[in-house]
Amino acid sequence: MPATTIPFNVLVAESIATQTNISPEKIIVLDNSDKYCPDAIKPVSSADHDEEKSLEAIFDTMAALNRAALSDQSLCTGRRNSSASSLTSASSSDSGETEPGEGMSFRTALLSATDELVTLAAGRPVRYVELGPEPWKSQVILSHLLKAGVNLRQYVGIDINPESERTMRAALTPIIGEERFAYLITDFYKTSADDLPPVPGLDKESVVSVMTNLGFQEGNDLPSRLGPMLTRLTKPGDLLLSEMQVLPPDDEEFGQNAVEEFYHLPEMLKFSSLVGKKFDDKFSLEEGKTDYEYIFNLVPLEVSEVGEVRVATTLVSLPVEGGKGKNYVLTNSCIKYTRKQFEKAREKLGKFGVRAERETGDRSVVFQIAERRD
Ligand SMILES: C[S@@+](CC[C@H](N)C(=O)[O-])C[C@H]1O[C@@H](n2cnc3c(N)ncnc32)[C@H](O)[C@@H]1O
Repeated sequence: MPATTIPFNVLVAESIATQTNISPEKIIVLDNSDKYCPDAIKPVSSADHDEEKSLEAIFDTMAALNRAALSDQSLCTGRRNSSASSLTSASSSDSGETEPGEGMSFRTALLSATDELVTLAAGRPVRYVELGPEPWKSQVILSHLLKAGVNLRQYVGIDINPESERTMRAALTPIIGEERFAYLITDFYKTSADDLPPVPGLDKESVVSVMTNLGFQEGNDLPSRLGPMLTRLTKPGDLLLSEMQVLPPDDEEFGQNAVEEFYHLPEMLKFSSLVGKKFDDKFSLEEGKTDYEYIFNLVPLEVSEVGEVRVATTLVSLPVEGGKGKNYVLTNSCIKYTRKQFEKAREKLGKFGVRAERETGDRSVVFQIAERRD
């Protein structure tokens, strides 16, 4: 099947329409980056400070998910029939249950993947490049790299959301120092390895970039767009750490609901509400407001080189003025590969070879490490 030029979210909206009774023209489709970009959607309340606040709140929502995930030592360990067994318990980790599960927790898997980066960096000077930065995992990874003796020369954050830089600087400079911190407010699709700032005292060839693409953001686009973007941003020998929520194979009973449960976390509802508010300032998912709904669907999509994948989607409904029914904004769309499909996407689309993987005990999250080929 040839790679499509139709945007990912248009394909996703078509799939939702075929799986539900919502007609495609009722679905408002955004590019995923539009939710984070000041110029993309002009909110109904267009005061600049409202837009800044909204982007800051969107950033804080993502960060809150990570903070909760890392602070729960038993999260994702895989204890069956336990409230502490999946990512979905991240926000309600006050159960006091901390006995060990069957496998690695989310935090342990992240640290173990970081150890693998230390090995693969093999003593070379490292530039750490973070796509779509967030403070909590970055603090954990960078501290761990430094503790392991990695020769970290620079951190570069790349984000389209200008409201992220202040928080990232405050979170990371106590660990790495002001002089190693660099930041680009830009679209990573329009950036290449040559646009990265020089590493003081080193030529380009002697540094290895360790690039991270965390928080399931790899699922926000077709691999035929992501693979070339990740290739452009790296040079041969560079390393890529990517975090994805994955689906169990169809015949595995355990874990089939983990994705849906994740999209019902309070932070995910808040995220969609913030996007809904850009279209309708009365938007609210509070109980009793029946005009505004939040709808989850896991829909199929045929992806070139990978086959049929599932896409987790959320819609929020907005009433159309004059009682003319509802429109629906597509607030989330994220590919949920199986672990095998994720490997295939990495190896077939872009110049990378998978070098290592770490999986949480409940097999819902994979940290994949790949190396850029020539
Ligand atoms: C799903 S969030 C993930 C955040 C974080 N990586 C994590 O682990 O939680 C996606 C992030 O990517 C950023 N982003 C999305 N599209 C982008 C683009 N085209 N260029 C640069 N940043 C983008 C957003 O601002 C946001 O911070």
